[in-house]
This record gives sequence, C-alpha cells and structure tokens, in this order.
Amino acid sequence: MERLRVVGGRRLVGRVRVPGAKNSALKLMAAALLAEGETRIGNLPRILDVEIMAELLRRMGCGVELDWSIEPGDHTGVARIDVPAEPGHEADYDLVRRMRASIAVLGPLLARCGRVKVARPGGDAIGSRGLDMHIDGLTRLGAEITNEHGFLLASAPTGLRGSTVELDFPSVGATENILMAAVLAEGSTVIDNAAREPEIVDLCQMLQAMGAKIGGAGSSTIEVQGVDRLSPVSYETLSDRIVAGTFAVAAVMTQGDVTVGHAVAEHLRIALDKLVAAGAGITVEENGFRVVMDRRPSAVDVVTLPYPGFATDLQPQFAALNSVADGVSMITENIFEARFVFLQELARLGAQVRTDGHHAVLRGVPRLSGAPVRSTDIRAGAGLLLAGLVAEGPTLVSEIHHIDRGYAGFVEQLTELGADVSREPDPDPF
Ligand code: EPU
Repeated sequence: MERLRVVGGRRLVGRVRVPGAKNSALKLMAAALLAEGETRIGNLPRILDVEIMAELLRRMGCGVELDWSIEPGDHTGVARIDVPAEPGHEADYDLVRRMRASIAVLGPLLARCGRVKVARPGGDAIGSRGLDMHIDGLTRLGAEITNEHGFLLASAPTGLRGSTVELDFPSVGATENILMAAVLAEGSTVIDNAAREPEIVDLCQMLQAMGAKIGGAGSSTIEVQGVDRLSPVSYETLSDRIVAGTFAVAAVMTQGDVTVGHAVAEHLRIALDKLVAAGAGITVEENGFRVVMDRRPSAVDVVTLPYPGFATDLQPQFAALNSVADGVSMITENIFEARFVFLQELARLGAQVRTDGHHAVLRGVPRLSGAPVRSTDIRAGAGLLLAGLVAEGPTLVSEIHHIDRGYAGFVEQLTELGADVSREPDPDPF
C-alpha cells in the first residue's frame, strides 16, 4: 500500500496533456463486444479501471492487448480487443465489485448473446447507486431480468425489440446500457430524458462508426434504429473533462499558470465560468485552454446537476478551492448523496465546513494545515490532493488506489508542473 505525500506552497506552472476520459473509455471497451472481430480503441487513460475492464473482456473470451505509450508526459495507450463470434456472457463479482462500471457489459451482452449473468455491484462510498432504470429500460426492450444469489440474470428468449423508454432521471449508465442493447434490437427505440454527457455522445459516435443508426446524441431524446450486425472499428477516446477541470482548479488554487492541453473547454463551460468568477483568467486555445491566477480565489457557489449542469465529479475539487477562498460558499450535491463524506477529511486540514442534507457551507480560511487524510473515492482523493497543494506542511493522502483508478500519471503530471508530491509506502494502511 502506498500513500501520497504533498507539501503545499508551490505555484503550478506549465503544460499538461489530458488523456482520454475514464468514463468514456470503459463504455467504449464494453461496446466492442457488439461486433465480432478486432476493435482498436486509442487515447485510453493508463488507469487501473481500464486494466480491470480488459480482464473482464478476456474472461468473456476476447483477446485483449493493451499497449501503453512510451512518450514522456503521455499517459495513454491503445487497446486491441478481438471479440469472438460467441462471447461468454458472465461477469463475476470479483471484478464487478472492484469496478462498478462493469455493469456496462449488460446491454451489449444481452444484445449479442441473448442472455447475461452479471454480478450486482452494490452501493459504494459515494451513494446507494441503484440499477432500477437499467433494468426497467432493458425490460421495455423485451428482456426478462431476475435477481438471483447476487447476480442479475437477463435473457431475451425471442430477441430484443425496439420500444420507447422514458427515464425517471437522465442516468448516464442506464442511457448507455439501453443504447448498447437498442442498436442491435429489432425496430426503433426512443430513449426519452436521456443523459446528455459528452461521454454519451462519444459512445454514440463509436457505435455510429460501427454501423449503428442513432439520432439525437447529446440531446434528451435519442432515437435508435436497430441493425442486424455491427462491424469492428478503430476509435479514439474523448478527452477527460474531469481531469482537465481538476488541473484547472489546481492552477487557480495555487495561483499558477497552467495550459491544459488535449482538452475540450466547451465540455467544462460552467466549471470554467465558476473559475472566472473566482478571479481566474481563462483563454481558450486551439486544443485546450490556459488558466492564469494571481490572487487568492473568491468563493463560488456550486450546484451539481446532470450535464450540461455542473459535474458532480468536480464537486470535491471545488470544495477544496472554496475551503481556501475569500468568502463563504454553498455547495449543493444533487447526484450522489454520500459525496459529502469527503468534507470531514477536508476539515482535518482545517477547512471550515458545515453540512445540512445535500447542502454544505464552506467559510474560506487563508491557509490549510497539512495532516494525514484518507481518500474515500476518486474525486475525493483528487480534492484532498489539491487541498494539500496549498496546505502548510506535509499532507499524507492514504487509500490512493482510488486516485489511481481515475487519474493517469497524476503524480508525474503535477510534479512536472512544479508540485512537491510523491508516493511513499503507507506504514499504517487503513
Ligand atoms: N440511479 C438510480 N437508478 C439507476 C441509475 C442511477 O437510482 O438505475 C441514481 C444513482 O444512484 C445516482 C444518480 O442516479 O444517484 C446518477 O447516476 P448515473 O447513472 O447518472 O451515474 P453512473 O452511470 O452510475 C457515471 C459516472 C460517474 C459520474 C456519473 C454522473 C461512470 C463509470 N461513472 O456514473 O463517475 O459521477 O455518471 O455524471 O461513467 C467518477 O468518475 O468519479 C464517477 C463517479
């Protein structure tokens, strides 16, 4: 077990290259199951979750090769996924419990094999995370789904048939599973109140390249006309907007000057507007954006919502920013009920925070004070690391496997920008 040691006080200056998005990459890899033959996916982030998804696909009989770039500063790679004519249709608990996104194989396997047995992921540190919308949507397409001994058993004995699915909430995962089942269903499907995240558009674009007929990607109504078969493709993963946003917040907190390359500013519109309101100068460039800050940030209110609203995956980073900002801010978390657990770790560093249900009020302090803290999920880990960058003395972040799940080469990238951050053995793992 390792932990991160961060010594605060350095200004971040320089340029980083943002890798492909975790939350696209994992779904694109699952989508490869929809076509027999070799699919190639590039710009994959070098993170543990990609390795876990590769292992899951291997267990289904796919040949999966991962090649990582050897260019300095490039933490991406390529997967070659060779899918057999009849993939296996089971996903075991040992992998699903390590990575909740394994549930993304449900839709594609149902479409390809007509039956699936996937372990239920259960809740996790950020919330209860139901699957009702995944199940209801696939049932509308003709699947029969039962729950037995911790597994979801799904079958479509007479094949999947297109239908209208109205989601109660624009769930990212449910939209993806229903979409990946609908592309091979008979007839047309309409997904109403669909998620509009850029990662959904990315998945739609790969499916279209494979031969799927999809309209309305990126809007609340996605229409799919089922086809008989899809073909393998070569596809590049969309840039990770949450990693890009994390670097942007780090630049603002450390009063730095960072160019975030290989990023799409448009996907971060609200977050970047908040950073401007905090006092930053932001210039959009051809392939990314530059963030410059020369004073203590002003506090900014944040309300998380489905895209194009403010991303829940940037909420802990903005909480870290607000903890040292000038003024009082209110953060409202509408997506994951348990994401405020992290604020108690932030309080160990001296943040002044009070929570009431899904609202948190932060009163900015001029300086945090380094201490041992524990990362409870990927984004909490990132938020604590950012807090450590501006704390006095060393901050020791344990449970860093969470950070490694979502941030490729994070320590190397922060070090290149001038941060004093390193890995060390954790003598007292949690
Ligand atoms: N929900 C249900 N029932 C369902 C599906 C969702 O109640 O059938 C609830 C969830 O419990 C949650 C809310 O709806 O409260 C949103 O869930 P959603 O399905 O939209 O999220 P997800 O697909 O589980 C993905 C990302 C998350 C990201 C959210 C929201 C992946 C692998 N995960 O989760 O990323 O926060 O969308 O944008 O794509 C992260 O990267 O740190 C992360 C948690």
